Amino acid sequence: MEEQSIQVELSTAKKEKPQTDQLEFGRTFTDHMFVMDYSVTDGWHNAKILPYQPISVDPAAMIFHYGQSVFEGLKAFRTPSGEVQLFRPRKNFERMNKSNERLVIPPIDEDFVLQALKKLIEIDQDWVPDTEGTSLYIRPFVFATEPFLGVAPSHQYKFMIILSPVGSYYKEGINPVKIAVEDTYVRAVKGGTGEAKTGGNYASSLIAQEVVSKKGYTQVLWLDGVEKKYIEEVGSMNVFFKIDGEVVTPKLNGSILAGVTRDSVIQLLKHWDVPVVERRIGMQELADAHEAGLLEEAFGSGTAAVISPIGALGWNGKEYTINGGKTGEISKRIYDTITGIQYGKLEDPLNWVE
Ligand code: COI
Repeated sequence: MEEQSIQVELSTAKKEKPQTDQLEFGRTFTDHMFVMDYSVTDGWHNAKILPYQPISVDPAAMIFHYGQSVFEGLKAFRTPSGEVQLFRPRKNFERMNKSNERLVIPPIDEDFVLQALKKLIEIDQDWVPDTEGTSLYIRPFVFATEPFLGVAPSHQYKFMIILSPVGSYYKEGINPVKIAVEDTYVRAVKGGTGEAKTGGNYASSLIAQEVVSKKGYTQVLWLDGVEKKYIEEVGSMNVFFKIDGEVVTPKLNGSILAGVTRDSVIQLLKHWDVPVVERRIGMQELADAHEAGLLEEAFGSGTAAVISPIGALGWNGKEYTINGGKTGEISKRIYDTITGIQYGKLEDPLNWVE
């Protein structure tokens, strides 16, 4: 792909920044955004950094009708010396291209968009908050813009990056949540779009959360879409269990999203010589491990929350309390280490920040 230049138009009216202790996840956006267009004749072109603003899209644009889109989520952090650093950004753009392939969206130039992201952050650097637990959430996304109602891959796309200063996902550190095992709805099946980061997966997951929230649960534990026996994900996160001293996570099987935090947890455990395996885990096996007193910890992993401990699982009319409903030792150690590396407060032995 030919290297392109990025045209920059700076905003003249700077927005007021929210107080960092009042930041909510994904509600406030910075002064600028990155945009580029795709057409069959020109490829990706027209790369621009513009003042953050609404965009004009044709009502017939294919994104609105058949959902051809992909997104990513990553973060930038303010270090104690005031610098800004990104956590494993290349992994996100690499995954975006894998998702693009599944959704028949043309690939992006990973080096170019990373360079564009760095330039955008440099322009909006004052928006990277510096108080405990805060960061700049980065949302790259791509969507079909061709005005056409035929069911086919679009010939035109827009790729954008927007930035949002976010507070700590948990106000008082990490708190265990109650999760209901989902036995009616499924998130994804092998051969479907479960391993792509596309909006449709999230849209189809909403109803399950709606239902369980009325029963006092925060999220659902997703089982496989065929037999509804094997554990896949929790809410919009990957999931881990500590069973009899060993950390176990569902093996990537074609319907599970390959989380960047999931990969970081696995690498960190290996680095510490803590036993960790990726394999198929049955819900019955997990319940049996609990009965035998061997289910020591459970937690979700994702970019937004990093680690989200599971304090209890509701399944088949029974409630399984895990680790007395408290945050487990390994969950806490992983959370402290990943966030320590992200904020530049701990050594980065696996070269994750840049
Ligand atoms: C994450 O855990 O970061 C997610 O994927 C959720 C995100 C869509 C808000």
